[in-house]
Formats: sequence, C-alpha cells, structure tokens
Amino acid sequence: MNKQGLFFLAVMLVLFSSCRNSTDHTEPSQMAFKITEQSWGTIQNDSVVQYTLTNPQGTQVSILNYGGTVTQLWVPDRKGELGDVVLGFDSLSGYLQKANPYFGCLVGRYGNRIAKGKFILEGQAYQLTLNDHGNTLHGGLQGLDKVIWQASKPAGDSSLKLTYTSKDGDQGFPGNLMIEVVYTLGSDNALQIAYSATTDKATPVNLTNHCYFNLSAGKQNTILDHEVMLQAEKFTAVDSLLIPTGQLPAVKGTPMDFTSPKKIGAELAAVKGGYDHNWVLNRKGNDLEKIATAYDASSGRLMEVFTTEPGLQFYTGNFLDGTLKGKWQQPYQQHAAFCMETQHFPDGPNQPSFPNTILKPGDTYRSLTRYQFSVK
Ligand code: GLA
Repeated sequence: MNKQGLFFLAVMLVLFSSCRNSTDHTEPSQMAFKITEQSWGTIQNDSVVQYTLTNPQGTQVSILNYGGTVTQLWVPDRKGELGDVVLGFDSLSGYLQKANPYFGCLVGRYGNRIAKGKFILEGQAYQLTLNDHGNTLHGGLQGLDKVIWQASKPAGDSSLKLTYTSKDGDQGFPGNLMIEVVYTLGSDNALQIAYSATTDKATPVNLTNHCYFNLSAGKQNTILDHEVMLQAEKFTAVDSLLIPTGQLPAVKGTPMDFTSPKKIGAELAAVKGGYDHNWVLNRKGNDLEKIATAYDASSGRLMEVFTTEPGLQFYTGNFLDGTLKGKWQQPYQQHAAFCMETQHFPDGPNQPSFPNTILKPGDTYRSLTRYQFSVK
C-alpha cells in the first residue's frame, strides 16, 4: 500500500473507532428501528398525526394520536411477504364516521359494558353516558377512542408513548384519570401495549385495544378458517344485551370450548349472534402469560397473545355486514376479522364476585398485553 493509501486507512480507522466509542451506543439490531410521522389532518385545532414504527425486519405498525388507533400492522407471511393484518380506513374521515366499529383504537375508561351505565362506589351513585341499548359500552359516548392523545417518542425509536387526562366527570366517571399507553414494536415482531393510570378519586378502570385481525391480510374474506386457542375453561354468561348474568359456565363440550386449537367457523353457527364473549382466562399468576393463539394456515401467520389481564373478549366481527368500506374501498363483510380484547370482566363494578376494577388514589393501574407474530 502506498503512503496515500496508508493515510486514508488511518483516517478511516480513527473515524470508525470514535464513532463507535463516543456517539453510537446503539446495539446493531436497534439501529434499523425507525419512526416516521405523517399528517392526517386536524380535528378542531388539533393535528392528527400517524406515527409509523418499523423494526429491522420491516415489520411495521402505524398508530394515530386520535384514539391511539392502530391503522396498519404489516407482518410477514411464511414466504416473508408483508401483509397488513388489521382492518381500518385509509383516512381520518373513515375513523370519524359514526359507523366506525372501534377499529384498532384504545378503549376506555371501561372497555366492554356497564349495565345501564350505573354503579355505586363508596356510597355514591354514578350515571355514565349510554351508547348501547341503554347500557354503556367502551367508556360511553365519547370514550378514549374518540379523543386526541399527547404523543411522544421514548428513546430507542421502537416505542410510541400516548398520554391523556380524562377529567373528573368525563362520561360520568369520577376522578381525574391520568392515563399512559406505550406501544412498543419488538425486533421479534411483537406489538406490546403497556397501559398505566392514576386517579385522584376511586374510579373503575378497564383499558384495552380493539384491533380487528385478519391474519391472511385480507386474502380470505372471513376469519372462519383461522384456528383459535383460548386458554380458558369458563366464560362469563350474558343476557340478550351482552350484560353478564354473574354465572361462569364451563366451556367443556360446548361451542365455547377453544382449549385446543379449533377453526373459528367450526361451531360458530351454534352460538346466537356469533362469538362476542368474555373468556375467564386460566392464569398461573399475575405476570405476562400466553393465553390465546390464532393461526391462518393459508398465509402461515401465527399470532400469540400474552397478557396480565384475567379476561379476554373474543369477538368475531358479528356486526360487520358488508356496508362499511374500509382500506382500498374493500367492503368488510360479517366475520371479516376477529378481536382479542384483553380485559377485566364486563360490568365489573356491579358484580362483586368478579376481579376488582376499582382504582384508588395512590395506586397505579397497570396492564400489559403482547401480540406476538411469527409463521409456521
Ligand atoms: C366489542 C363488543 C361488541 C361490539 C364491538 C364493536 O367487541 O363486545 O359487542 O360492540 O366491540 O362493534
């Protein structure tokens, strides 16, 4: 090597080592994470922004600050081809329409139903806004799915943090509730959602996410051929308006039994209205545990659900009827997707035998759910 060559090599070595030692402390696998932002318009004076998190494998999740809504989730099939496995709309107006059936959003303050929107807490009666046949569904008329959250990006480019303060009296709920939700995309193709909240008055809290999954990425019009396993031997029986009766029947030998993987469509016709129930999860403790799987043999995509929650609402898109046009103007027909909403049980505040849903001042509500994607 001539003198010039040696000099060049020396300069490169110095540059390389100073770069590694002083400024770049990121692990190589972290280097390819990125977050991009796209404007999705405004609501009154607030900007609506879509944040897209991409991991080193190209797996991608897009989330709006409006409702903390997951708009897209691109994961590989068994050939390595990415496909968008969640239902949604192409633009904000889709999400703002009244017919939006909670596509991809965060749900609260109380996911699922509270009978007649009433409960008594510390001797005081509360009345919530009613939005579902005289009951309160998913937090009432203007739940957490219909508000703008404050977004920030914690270090590492793999997470999006959303915060929101729901004021004392919001939808009839007591206390100022300070809520934080962190979405994290793992390098292992997991989407993790960490929820936490604090309050200044005792109040019910039950937060979840309402993604509608179709693991074939729309190649199959329905999810009836997806195979599902739910780690649950009981479910909460409900009346005709899907309000729990308090009974927890065993699933064994009934169409509700998903203890071993079974096609969603296998016995769905025997369940009036389709699956829209809370399964009582078998849990070993309070840590993150795998409680459900869903598999689409046509694409090879497998989704495993881990949670710290005691219940799971498994909903098979029964109310979709082909009238709603989603992304790329596709009509979403009945059973086009399924939801796995990790949660405490419906109507918890009125059912003393159900796991506690009351958050007290000084305590912190915490809940963690992970949707893990792979292929087989
Ligand atoms: C939940 C409910 C369903 C339905 C959907 C939204 O899954 O349990 O009954 O309201 O949300 O359409």
